[in-house]
Order: sequence, then structure tokens, then C-alpha cells
Amino acid sequence: MTMKALRASLLRFDPTTTQAQFEEDGLLVIGPDSRGRQVVQAAGSYSALKDMYAQVPVEHLPGRILAPGFIDMHVHYPQTDIIGAPAAGLLPWLENYTFPAESRFADPAHASAVAEFFLDELARNGVTTALTFATSHPASVDAFFEAAQRRSLRMISGKVLQDRHSPDGVRDDTEQSLLDTESLIRRWHNVDRLGYAITPRFAPTSTDAQLHGAGELAKAHGDTWIHTHVSENKDEVKWVRELFPKARSYLDVYLGFNLMRERAVYAHCIHFDDDDRCLMRDTGAVTAVSPTSNLFLGSGFFDFEGADRIGYRYGLASDVGGGTSFSPFATMMAAYYAGREGQTKPGVSIPPSQLWWHHTAGAARALGLAGGVGNLQPGCEADFLVLNPAATPLLARKTKLADSLEELLFAMIVLGDDRLVERTVISQAMA
Ligand code: GUN
Ligand code: ZN
Repeated sequence: MTMKALRASLLRFDPTTTQAQFEEDGLLVIGPDSRGRQVVQAAGSYSALKDMYAQVPVEHLPGRILAPGFIDMHVHYPQTDIIGAPAAGLLPWLENYTFPAESRFADPAHASAVAEFFLDELARNGVTTALTFATSHPASVDAFFEAAQRRSLRMISGKVLQDRHSPDGVRDDTEQSLLDTESLIRRWHNVDRLGYAITPRFAPTSTDAQLHGAGELAKAHGDTWIHTHVSENKDEVKWVRELFPKARSYLDVYLGFNLMRERAVYAHCIHFDDDDRCLMRDTGAVTAVSPTSNLFLGSGFFDFEGADRIGYRYGLASDVGGGTSFSPFATMMAAYYAGREGQTKPGVSIPPSQLWWHHTAGAARALGLAGGVGNLQPGCEADFLVLNPAATPLLARKTKLADSLEELLFAMIVLGDDRLVERTVISQAMA
């Protein structure tokens, strides 16, 4: 397979300092690695690299920005059709919209159609990797992975485990759910670019036996992910306290079932105390921060300062259908708003380059995929975006006025949507 190069502005992140790096006139050289997978061969300034890669054909994209594909750390592909469903809070939203919508995924044809639409939507919005819930139906996992595999995507998903407090149509059987999970791990985990996540929905909808089985599977398959929800909503937290009176906290329930380790991804983590934050840090578990969902469902605000003070890892997520947009720009904007809540340090909320990092290289690091996706350093898989900062009249005007990288990134976060993403490129495996 031949090499190729793109010449445009170039955004990437220093893997050590996490700082954004920007080349006004950059070159991105793509070529196969030893397994034939397209990766970044070189990235830097055009003037520094052009002689070394003089034989490589160059596509020149004046006025465009090459940037890493975004990573959505927590989303529900089966909830695509219930985006924007109003409810008084999490629990009535689950009962009235979510469970009825998810019950339709017993039908493989429906699951396939939604998976294809969802992946189209991710691509249009510049999301190249996602950790997504499926539903409790094994067919929903097969449909998703088959669609992702055809597109050569790096995606992570898993069958939802929910054997109690769930209506007919989504409730599964304890023993069968664990057997199904095991066989789905064997069918899909580490196949091409796919990864499996053991996915208890949340503590209230699993029996002790199911949570115990999930923890056993997580131990037996140590490089799988664990994916669940925790401490999102006050009524939910109260319910968990009633269901698990011996646990110190909601998060402690999961610890008790051996569900905290690296590659364990906990959505929300809002109603936490410092003991919970220390538990996250000490076990290597990470948070998928989902600010549009938290604002939409009235759940609360993730404490960014608290996470940084204790020093545990997190990244950004849409949480569609609780979340209101597939666009990473909407998610970063909402994280900026949420970062103001309870802020004690003076200054602006989260800096734009850090918001962007949390949705790309930082999210990759949180998922245990650093150096693989979410960045455009040599060796990274070649999933990237061509952004057009002049995609709308206001974007063109505002980005031209930017005096610094922070101002440029913020203009795109505030004003950007799917129109900013001109092209989404996915790393291909070549024979
Ligand atoms: N908690 C349990 N299930 C869900 C879900 O589908 N979405 C959200 N946001 N929280 C949950
Ligand atoms: Zn969720």
C-alpha cells in the first residue's frame, strides 16, 4: 500500500504534557504499519517534512485543519430515536421512553438499521471511536459490531445486563445473560478494531448474582472494558442506598463486585464524595462526563475541580439519548458551562484546548487506547478529520479574527456543528 500525505493546518496533542500543538502549514503522512493498518507515519510542519517525503503524493487543502477524530466515551446507539425525550428526571425517562425504545432491539433488522444510522451520524459529526451501550438483546450487539466492522471502525460495545427492576422486553435472565456475555466476548473482543465492554446497566437493575457474574467475567477477560452508570441522579442514589444498605456509597457497590479496575468506565459520577474520587483514582477506573445529558435530565454537574484535585481520569461523552447532541462541539460547549458550576478557582472555565483534549487524546488515554487513537502522532491509527473553519459565514468571520490557538479552538467549539466537519477519514486495513 502506498503512502499519502495531506498538507493543511494540523492539530494534535503532546502525549506527555497533553498540550495542544498546532502547525499553521502542516503535513500529515499516512502509510501502512507492519500489519498493513494505515497509521500516521509523520506529522509536523510542511517545511520540515517536505524533503523527506518528496516522493509521497500530497493533497493540498488550503484553509483546512487536520485534527484527530473525536472519541465519545459513553453513548447509547439504541437511544438514537429518543434523543430529546422530555422527562422529570432519569427514572421516569427510563420507564417512559428508554425501555420501550430498547425493547425493539430484539429484532435484528431494527438493530441493524439503527446501528447504520448511528454510525453515519457519528461520522458526520467527526466521531471515529465510541464506547456504546447496546441493549439486553445479544442481536443488538451483533448488529452493531457487524456494521462497525464493515466500516473498519475502532468501536467498543456490549450487551446490557439487567435482570431485575426492568419491564418485560428488556429484562434478561441472570444465567443466560452471563453465558451470552461470555460468548459475545469470544465472538467480538479484539476482532479487527472492535472491543467488548461488560455492561451492567446500573446497580438497581441487576441482582447480586448478575453483578457477581459480571465481576467474574471482568476478571477472566482482563482487557475487556466495563461500562456502567453511577451517581447520576439523586432519586437513583437514594434507591441504591435502599437496595444495597451495606455499601458505603453507590460506587462502593461496584467495588464490592470487582467491577472497578482499569478500563472500567463509569458514566456521570456526579453525586460523589472524596472517598469515591479516591476509589476511582486508586482502582484506575475513569469517568465518562456527559454534560448535555446532565443538563437535559436535570441530573447535576460533574465536579471537574474535584476530579483534578484527587487526580483521577475522565473524558467527554454525549450520552445520547439522555444527551441532546451527537456533536462533540455541543458536548465541549456544555462541559464549558458545567465547568463553571461550583468553580472555586478564578479564571475562565476549562480552557478550550483542554476541552478538545478530553474529547480526543485524553479520552483515548482514559479508555486505555493512548497512542492508538485520539491523536495524530506517529504510530497513531489514521482516524482523522478535515475541518473547514470557514464552513459558515459566522465561523469564517470569527475564526479569522482569532489571535491565538485557544481563541481559534474556542470559536470552533462555540460555533461549530456537523458543517465544520468536511471529511471524516477512517484508517483502513490493506492487504
Ligand atoms: N442509568 C441507567 N440506564 C441509563 C440510561 O440509559 N441513560 C442514562 N443517562 N442513565 C442511565
Ligand atoms: Zn448513559
